[in-house]
Amino acid sequence: MQHARIIGTGSYVPDNIMTNDDLAEIVDTSDEWISSRTGIKERRISKGESTSEMAYYAALKAIENANISAMDLDLIICATITPDSFMPSVACMVQERLGAKKAAAFDLSAACTGMIYAMVTSAMFIENGVYQKILVIGAETLSKVLNWNDRSTCVLFGDGAGAVVMSVSQSSRGGMIAHHLFSDGEKQSYLTLPSITLKNPYVQPETTDVPYILMKGQEVFKYAVRSIADNIKLLLSKAKMEKEDIQYIITHQANFRIIEHAAKISDISLDKFYVNLERYGNTSAASIGIALDEMNRKEIISAGDKIILVGFGGGMTSGAILMEWA
Ligand code: ACO
Repeated sequence: MQHARIIGTGSYVPDNIMTNDDLAEIVDTSDEWISSRTGIKERRISKGESTSEMAYYAALKAIENANISAMDLDLIICATITPDSFMPSVACMVQERLGAKKAAAFDLSAACTGMIYAMVTSAMFIENGVYQKILVIGAETLSKVLNWNDRSTCVLFGDGAGAVVMSVSQSSRGGMIAHHLFSDGEKQSYLTLPSITLKNPYVQPETTDVPYILMKGQEVFKYAVRSIADNIKLLLSKAKMEKEDIQYIITHQANFRIIEHAAKISDISLDKFYVNLERYGNTSAASIGIALDEMNRKEIISAGDKIILVGFGGGMTSGAILMEWA
């Protein structure tokens, strides 16, 4: 069977930095509360960049890093819960801007697990010989779906985009070794972002739209810790590997305390977990791509390293990939 591997990474975040002190001028909060509860110090907030623009800039960098042309792309998948519009998709907008005329394009919705879902979907196309080169993007403008009067949510999130180009592994080394996707719709009320309320000649809604992220923080916290630990254990068993074989773990960047607890119950050194959420906050589907791009460009990861990517988020969803960097 052919393996799918990453041949290029890219990311983009808005220049505009919003610190915890900046937030304290908007809502009743403090740097001390946010830092100690979450590890977040600052986040990037769009001053006009749309999800498709950020996705495009991240994609350009990933294509350049992969040393291919946009015309080589067979497919573009964008994971997002904050598209510019229901239609057209962000992926189609990026396809047009890149001039990737050969590529099919669609968006995928799996909240903060979106990048993992999109990468596993790509791997299926590649492993089955359907497509050779796929651009996978996670991009979010979460600042447009936050209630900026709700201190329990607006302090947690940020905007940005991460991207990878995936291709067929040319050697027996490198690429995805194991992956797993999981959903638990029974816990859907933990994290919600309502859509347009049904209103037509037959239905007159009593309530109006609330287009904001709503969250049961403590339930999400427990779900996230358990998901990281369970996904790591499952992947190691699928790949017949030990935790000592793994060099790095990149989880969805939501909260440092979540990562700390997951490391503890997994009995894995916290040093193996890459963390950059102090600079970006929670960027949902973008976070894993941004982290992977940083690690790639800073040459933190090198050929032969075994890496686990783990996502968790609304749905509730979770998923993970164990790969060898090539
Ligand atoms: N600043 C100051 N005080 C605050 C803030 C704030 N920003 N937010 C809440 N508080 C107050 C609350 O009002 C409450 O006050 P009270 O005791 O007077 O009622 C107090 O702090 C404690 O509130 P809790 O909600 O119990 O705080 P908790 O310790 O649970 O921490 C947090 C909240 C940080 C959100 C935590 O539950 C958490 O990290 N959950 C996971 C959230 C998350 O990561 N979500 C996204 C992941 S999934 C995805 O990415 C889509």
